[in-house]
Amino acid sequence: MLGSLKGRDFLSLKDFEREEILSLLDLAVKLRENNQLLLKDKVLGMIFAKSSTRTRISFEVGMLQLGGHAIFLSERDIQLGRGETVADTARVLSRYLDGIMIRTFAQSDVDELAKYASIPVINGLTDFDHPCQGLADLLTIRDNFGVLNGKLAFIGDGNNMATALIFAAAKVGMEIAIASPSGYEPDPVAVRVAKNLGASISVTKDPKEAVKGAYVVYTDVWTSMGQEKETELRKKAFNGYQVDKKLMELADKKAIFLHCLPAHRGEEVSAEVLEGPQSRVFDEAENRLHAQKAILAALL
Ligand code: CP
Ligand code: NVA
Repeated sequence: MLGSLKGRDFLSLKDFEREEILSLLDLAVKLRENNQLLLKDKVLGMIFAKSSTRTRISFEVGMLQLGGHAIFLSERDIQLGRGETVADTARVLSRYLDGIMIRTFAQSDVDELAKYASIPVINGLTDFDHPCQGLADLLTIRDNFGVLNGKLAFIGDGNNMATALIFAAAKVGMEIAIASPSGYEPDPVAVRVAKNLGASISVTKDPKEAVKGAYVVYTDVWTSMGQEKETELRKKAFNGYQVDKKLMELADKKAIFLHCLPAHRGEEVSAEVLEGPQSRVFDEAENRLHAQKAILAALL
């Protein structure tokens, strides 16, 4: 199954079969237990048009641990930031590198990069999707419950993280419920793809309804990167959508709390829940490293 991933792009979990996703999780566990130098002398370029702590460092460390090397390419410092086209950048970088990871705004730029690159392109977050985080979250859920079924509730902005989790849940066969205020619902394209996959997906305005019976309660920031001007407006719109102890009590007794981080305590999540016994956010952050090593080893 892993053989089918060689040379592919990793743009969205919706592009992968269930078995391919499960084999990536198995490889992540294998590499977590026993590191191997599978990418000796391979070089990954990492283009960043947005900030990052986890994505940047886990990709860089992951490449080093696999025996390769990673180059940080701030969009400001390469000609892409001065107007060189995505297509030209893709073709030039393909002559030097073995893979490209990109974090940027428009999903169409990542798709364009992948179209013109002759090496694998990995989506390190766009305004639309965050598939690497989605894979690490599946790993964290499987680490905790041993299986990937049951209900995942996502509370808050129907943003890139919501899309990634919709695809992740739909592909592995988990039920997903999303609670968002009016105007901040999940992307209709993501919901349609999930429905076409036969997924059990529900969208509501009521966080209490969404978390009922959930094994995983997930939230993300109310204001994503690039939306900073809307911060105050969003704080008002998301009033009542905080994941706090009371909301967690309505989920299954065994429920865990996940957040991709960075978190804003007192906004989308209370400090008590983030630091509490149900929180797995730092295991989740660590799993970025293991899941991405699997992606890198399989693709490159
Ligand atoms: N979760 C996540 O992608 O974090 P960074 O923005 O720090 O990479
Ligand atoms: N939705 C957040 C995720 C950060 C990892 C953002 O795009 O800023």
